[in-house]
Amino acid sequence: MSNRKNKMKGIILAGGTATRLFPMTATTSKQLLPVYDKQMIFYPLNTLIKAGIKDILIIVAPDHSGQFLNLLGSLFKPYDIHISFEVQSVPRGLAEALILGENHIGDGNVALILGDNIFENDFSSQIKSFKSGGHVFAKKVTDPERFGVVKFNKNNRAVEIVEKPKEWISDYAVTGLYLYDNRCIEIAKKMKPSERGEIEITDVNRAYLKKKELEVTLFEGEWLDAGTPESLLEAGMIVREKGISKNFHPVLAKAIEEFNEELKIRSKKRLQ
Ligand code: DAU
Repeated sequence: MSNRKNKMKGIILAGGTATRLFPMTATTSKQLLPVYDKQMIFYPLNTLIKAGIKDILIIVAPDHSGQFLNLLGSLFKPYDIHISFEVQSVPRGLAEALILGENHIGDGNVALILGDNIFENDFSSQIKSFKSGGHVFAKKVTDPERFGVVKFNKNNRAVEIVEKPKEWISDYAVTGLYLYDNRCIEIAKKMKPSERGEIEITDVNRAYLKKKELEVTLFEGEWLDAGTPESLLEAGMIVREKGISKNFHPVLAKAIEEFNEELKIRSKKRLQ
């Protein structure tokens, strides 16, 4: 894998407790629940694979590590995509992914994506052309208090980012795809937990904003954060309507299809 040393690495955050989706998440991980006809984790995986990222670390909660391994452990065996896993013992916050992923990131850049975020857009050109600093993607929403929110000045420059603001500052949510250079690891290591006891990805973004090295791109396509029963249902309907799961990268689509075939053969053998 030495030829990949300086290539951008991917991380998917698929840990957490998912209390808002309880009791569905009493027996499985949120990111393994179906969104229309595919498990949720395949959507962020598709975003990274489409951008040519071949080394992907998946952060999982201790109770669900076996389930992720069953689904993804051998999925890409015939292909040039490498998946690894890291268990996050306690959900200490999104920025912990950058600390847990230190060895995986090595000395290159990283694309971090949330395991419950589904994007209609293809961000491959932005991911492929990313060089340094931080780059996040913001979208206008009607319920900004649920998100990390970015405020712009008259010249459309980002000037402030606040996590779940109690008072309105802007309608632009920072979505769950984050591109960072290698300095993000040291930034995350120095961070203190917020009031809700988490090390916040918003604080990493603020650190780059302070350095004037955070690019914020607005986009129009569908963005779904499938964290509640209502948003999970809505996500499934939009995925079906827009054909998002039918438009996966060919390697991912083929790997899933082959895995499904193998499952059929295994269950037939069990019945014999
Ligand atoms: O969806 C975008 C929003 O995601 C951003 O606008 C916010 O700035 C960001 O903080 C985040 O907010 P959420 O409250 O939606 O994050 P949530 O706790 O739902 O976690 C997002 C994903 O990360 C989810 O798949 C669970 C996983 N996770 C979460 C935590 C706290 C982990 O793997 N480990 C963790 O420690």
